[in-house]
Amino acid sequence: MTAINLVVAYAIVFGGAMGWVLPSAGNPASNSASDIDGLFQFMAAFGSAIFVYVFGYVLYFSTVFRRQPGESRHTIGTQIHHAPRLEFWWTVIPTLLLIVLVYLSIEVWYKVQFGSGGTALTTEVVAHQFDFEVRYPGLKTSIYTSQTPMHLPAGKPVRILISSADVLHSFWVPEFRVKAGAVPGLVQNLNLTPTHTGKYDIICAEYCGINHSRMQGKLIVDTPSDFDAWLAQMKGEKVAAAAGSVDLAKGNALAGKALFQSKCSACHAIGPFSQKIVGPGLAHILDDPAHPNLVNGNPATPANIADLITKGYTGDIGAMPNRQMLGLSDQDLADVVAYLASQK
Ligand code: CUA
Repeated sequence: MTAINLVVAYAIVFGGAMGWVLPSAGNPASNSASDIDGLFQFMAAFGSAIFVYVFGYVLYFSTVFRRQPGESRHTIGTQIHHAPRLEFWWTVIPTLLLIVLVYLSIEVWYKVQFGSGGTALTTEVVAHQFDFEVRYPGLKTSIYTSQTPMHLPAGKPVRILISSADVLHSFWVPEFRVKAGAVPGLVQNLNLTPTHTGKYDIICAEYCGINHSRMQGKLIVDTPSDFDAWLAQMKGEKVAAAAGSVDLAKGNALAGKALFQSKCSACHAIGPFSQKIVGPGLAHILDDPAHPNLVNGNPATPANIADLITKGYTGDIGAMPNRQMLGLSDQDLADVVAYLASQK
């Protein structure tokens, strides 16, 4: 029976089931992924063997040496003391295993903490309730992963500096096998080399508030030339988005509804002012006698709403990314305002 258990355990660790337990195990997405999977396999190989060995004997003893019919309830088995050879080996073998494990772990940890060689790109990730802000060298505005995927070049050693603007979050890319707590006032770093192109999830792995479960984004690993082209395009696009004036009369409330759901609903409900998620409910933004002004003090009018979204807002109530960060075009902005206006 113990042999069957061991076969099953090893099938999970080394066979096809590995890819089910650990995503893309057969095709590691970063250099740290193969290191960490190796570590996991090492621990799982010895851990499964020890588990099966110990548990197998527990079952064996409890069957073979069970109380026989007629035996007293207080019968105690033969007591064995002083088995120096046994004691020696059950001390030495676990000690050696742990020493090897410590050595292998430190090697992997050191590489993730300090990198192994030069760094081709350093990005900054700042976690917010409930979004990851990513900063790139030379890009004047940040990207937000709820709207725009983060990009990294394949085959280049990258360093990701991680911090938080508000509460504890955790930056986790399961396929890379790396995770770092995002802590206000502290900058942590992860060093890794993405091994091939692909699209991966970024997940917040620390409960950070009501929308923690929605705090997810995408990470796209490009070829280095595609990455350079993307970054150049972002630099151009951001400048273009800042220019131009908006004709609110062209707004389409139905298109605005879809935009609201994807861009705004993480923080705002369509409900009364008191229905707060992060910001207030916005159903009556244009006709709420108790709140005639917007959060920035301006009267609630469509033009002022457009202005507030364009500039963004930071204050006691929280922070709202501006229009560029949200990636709203002129038409998008007009649509969102039209949708809000249609709610009264
Ligand atoms: Cu951010 Cu959970």
